[in-house]
Amino acid sequence: MNQQIHRGSLLHFPKSTIDPANNYQYISDGVLVVENGRICHIGEAKAFFSDRTNQQRLEQGEVELHKGLLLPGLIDSHVHFPQIEMIASFGKQLLDWLNEYTFPTEMQFSNPHYAQAQASFFVEQLFAHGTTTASIFATVHTQSVDALFEAAQRYNARMICGKVLMDRFCPEALQDTAESGYRESKTLIERWHKQGRALYAITPRFAPTSSPEQLAKAGQLANEHPDTFIQTHLSENLGEVEWIKELYPSCPEYLGVYERYDLVRDRALFGHAIHLNSREYTALSRSGASVSFCPSSNLFLGSGLFDYGAMQDHNIPVSIASDVGAGTSLSLFANQADAYKICQLQSLSLNPFESLYLCTQGAATAMGLSDQIGNLNAGTEADFIELDLMATPMLQQRLVRCKTLDEQLFAAITLGDERLIEKTYVNGQQVYQKGATSCGHNSTSGLHSSLNGSMSSVR
Ligand code: GUN
Ligand code: ZN
Repeated sequence: MNQQIHRGSLLHFPKSTIDPANNYQYISDGVLVVENGRICHIGEAKAFFSDRTNQQRLEQGEVELHKGLLLPGLIDSHVHFPQIEMIASFGKQLLDWLNEYTFPTEMQFSNPHYAQAQASFFVEQLFAHGTTTASIFATVHTQSVDALFEAAQRYNARMICGKVLMDRFCPEALQDTAESGYRESKTLIERWHKQGRALYAITPRFAPTSSPEQLAKAGQLANEHPDTFIQTHLSENLGEVEWIKELYPSCPEYLGVYERYDLVRDRALFGHAIHLNSREYTALSRSGASVSFCPSSNLFLGSGLFDYGAMQDHNIPVSIASDVGAGTSLSLFANQADAYKICQLQSLSLNPFESLYLCTQGAATAMGLSDQIGNLNAGTEADFIELDLMATPMLQQRLVRCKTLDEQLFAAITLGDERLIEKTYVNGQQVYQKGATSCGHNSTSGLHSSLNGSMSSVR
């Protein structure tokens, strides 16, 4: 029997809820038993070790003891793997940022070796940030999708990915056609969708860079493969929203474009959704689709304030996402801190349990995957992380003064980032441990000394 026993404190949201602050399960001394990549038991350590065989296993050192807090692996519902290298690019808002930084970066992914190297780096970085599932935009090149899924499969990780569809308003080297985009996406669906833990997302980049013919083919594909995901961008930036009116004058507004082409349905994930009118909120709430709140990206590109209260009022499923490279951190803890501040600007104080829910069970629910991921329930896939709540001196100072779990969680969200992540497990296997870097990226001295060198020569 291939069984691993983990002992530590456990926190998760066992079911889908509109009130996460009152529907979490916290076990201060708990066990999580994993068998063949799945969780087969969660419960109190005391009850578990009252069984003689289990007690013996404890005495024989067969139980992994965790000092930190065990949580389900985090789920990033919107991220661009090719953009990891252009994160933190200065001074532009969405449309200029795409032209100046994003498109030139994505051109490099025509080279399969480059795509493979970047995909491997990206997947490792996800794990180092505590993320075990992500919905990922590749580039227009099919080889970029192959590279990402191959990297994920090395760890048996559940990842969603798709080839970007775009046939206009971008460099020619990044354009497909309505027909080739359809054909290549279909081939990728046949090659990857539901192979192991891989899931395919039909991925029109956003309505401006797809002709009506391409969106129609994307909708056709979505109807032919109803169990695939759809991912795209919606109403992120006011200039973009104005452009949509010129490009699609007969649609009521932005969401109406995607509705016209059958792209608004279950498993459709819309990034941003900031500048919506009341018809769009109502239509989204009836559609089964969900939206990705991308706080760090929205602040970085100056896109606007996501109206979480309106999403709640309309019962629209929401998850939190990094949107790297417009987002400035892959850490969903750093993104939760930004989410709190965005909500504060709109007089809403986002409860820490609620924001954690939006990165775990809430995200899994939005994606229709909560039977597999997003919680620690018996029967689900064993993707989980260990958090070190004392990861920094600042956290230590703050945490010892917290009296309740929600105070601790809020402090961890506000002061924490990837330094919180002690260990990451995927499919029951440990895939990351803090401090155990494989390729020496923990040295910063090279960059510092070269910067200092050039500064002193200017002086
Ligand atoms: N809209 C269209 N493409 C992109 C992208 O790559 N990032 C963001 N943030 N918005 C987009
Ligand atoms: Zn995006």
